[in-house]
Amino acid sequence: MSDPWTDLDAFHRWFWQKLEDGPSARDTPARLLALATTSAEGAAARMVVLRAVDAPARVLEVHTDLRSAKVAEIRTDPRATLLLWDPSDQLQVRLSCQVTVAAGAEVTRVWTRLPPQVRRVYGGAAASGTPLPAPERLRPPAGPDRFAVLRCQVTSIDALHLGRDLHARARWRDRDGWEGQWIAP
Ligand SMILES: Cc1cc2nc3c(=O)[nH]c(=O)nc-3n(C[C@H](O)[C@H](O)[C@H](O)COP(=O)(O)O)c2cc1C
Repeated sequence: MSDPWTDLDAFHRWFWQKLEDGPSARDTPARLLALATTSAEGAAARMVVLRAVDAPARVLEVHTDLRSAKVAEIRTDPRATLLLWDPSDQLQVRLSCQVTVAAGAEVTRVWTRLPPQVRRVYGGAAASGTPLPAPERLRPPAGPDRFAVLRCQVTSIDALHLGRDLHARARWRDRDGWEGQWIAP
């Protein structure tokens, strides 16, 4: 295969494949992404685990606590960025998204598939960000009340590959199908 960063379509397929591999492969860079939102302070970013990818629908899924700051921020402004850095391929991908928060009956099927040790993340008595006298141990929650799925609909993409002699950057916009364009790095 020729270098994927020399052909616009190959470049696009290259990083979508990395994203699709993220949820199932523990050691792949796309397993962990940074999620940036707008916040009262201006902007907030945090690491999240990529849980599911539907490439044809352009949707990436992240699991979170319904009471976390990011959920309130997304409900105020659904625009967000998911950021991937793959050091072995010197590849940065910025995914601009519109995010919706799914909870309650809508996420029951996802919740039932989560192993007990993962469900414990959603068992804390205090809401995420609440002051505590000391760190609390994880404990199993009674149910999925605090569990939410963030559905991130990708609307545009900015990808940058840093080669030794070539820096390749391209942007894609969703125009009833991806419309790509090389841009200056
Ligand atoms: C390696 C790693 C993975 C994480 N994965 C998630 C995740 O999938 N979902 C999540 O809500 N928080 C995850 N967190 C915690 C967030 O980074 C963040 O601290 C927490 O969600 C509170 O963020 P907020 O107050 O901005 O909402 C992860 C943290 C680390 C270090």
